[in-house]
Amino acid sequence: MAESNGSFGGSGWSLRGTTALVTGGTRGIGYAVVEELAGLGATVHTCSRNEAEIEKCLREWHAKGFSVTASVCDGSDRAQREKLMEKVSSIFNGKLNILVNNVGTSFRKPTVDYSAADYSTIMTTNLESAYHLCQLAHPLLKASGAGSIVFVSSVAGVVSLGTGSIYAATKAAINQLTKNFACEWAKDNIRSNSVAPWYIKTSLVEHVISSILLILGMKHLFFINSMLCKHTSFSHHDHYNSVVLIEHH
Ligand SMILES: NC(=O)c1ccc[n+]([C@@H]2O[C@H](COP(=O)([O-])OP(=O)(O)OC[C@H]3O[C@@H](n4cnc5c(N)ncnc54)[C@H](OP(=O)(O)O)[C@@H]3O)[C@@H](O)[C@H]2O)c1
Repeated sequence: MAESNGSFGGSGWSLRGTTALVTGGTRGIGYAVVEELAGLGATVHTCSRNEAEIEKCLREWHAKGFSVTASVCDGSDRAQREKLMEKVSSIFNGKLNILVNNVGTSFRKPTVDYSAADYSTIMTTNLESAYHLCQLAHPLLKASGAGSIVFVSSVAGVVSLGTGSIYAATKAAINQLTKNFACEWAKDNIRSNSVAPWYIKTSLVEHVISSILLILGMKHLFFINSMLCKHTSFSHHDHYNSVVLIEHH
């Protein structure tokens, strides 16, 4: 197994011998988290809805010597979540050290324009999915003797970004779940933390960043760039650090 290829390579940190489930690992933040955990020696399972993309990622990871497996799973579907956790339990012998709840979706509209279907999709994908996966993972995390849950929340769960109220509500709920689980499951040696990124250039928000630049026009490019540099990790590769730091403290 390859080790120390990540940004913490050479630091002496190792996750060798640990197991991790990272949801939504084929793109963006999830992809970077899989790479970092596997680079530090963890055995990782991930999932997404697109089998072809999973196969492509697995080829890339195996070429790097990483120990990664993956399943097709729609995280918004209860039965598929149950099947995912059965698989994880079977490949990791009933023990899971790290659960990274990364799957999330967003589409921004003024609040009055959201439909009932929009509400349901965002709530189910972002909140119900993470909540249920924690319930399913609890026995496995407890059995590991040193469990850790990391939620991928958002700055939108703390302050208003103007639109995207449903998304914001799911991320605020995630922040509270983080605290509840930390208190409730500390007795089981399970830690619970969340990471709340600002804009990261991934497939989820590329169109938002592009439209901001288009609206403001080229003459404001210098201003927006300096603003984004101040407040934005423009690459998802900057953000796995936060997740991995949690695994070491
Ligand atoms: N990018 C940002 O600026 C930003 C900022 C704050 C927080 N976040 C949060 O970070 C997390 C990851 O976002 P990202 O920007 O990396 O998104 P992304 O680039 O769209 O990647 C999302 C990943 O999750 C998978 N996925 C999405 N819906 C899924 C579902 N229902 N079931 C299974 N897999 C699913 C995607 O694969 P498939 O689509 O093929 O299934 C993909 O692998 C989200 O929770 C998001 O809210 C992002």
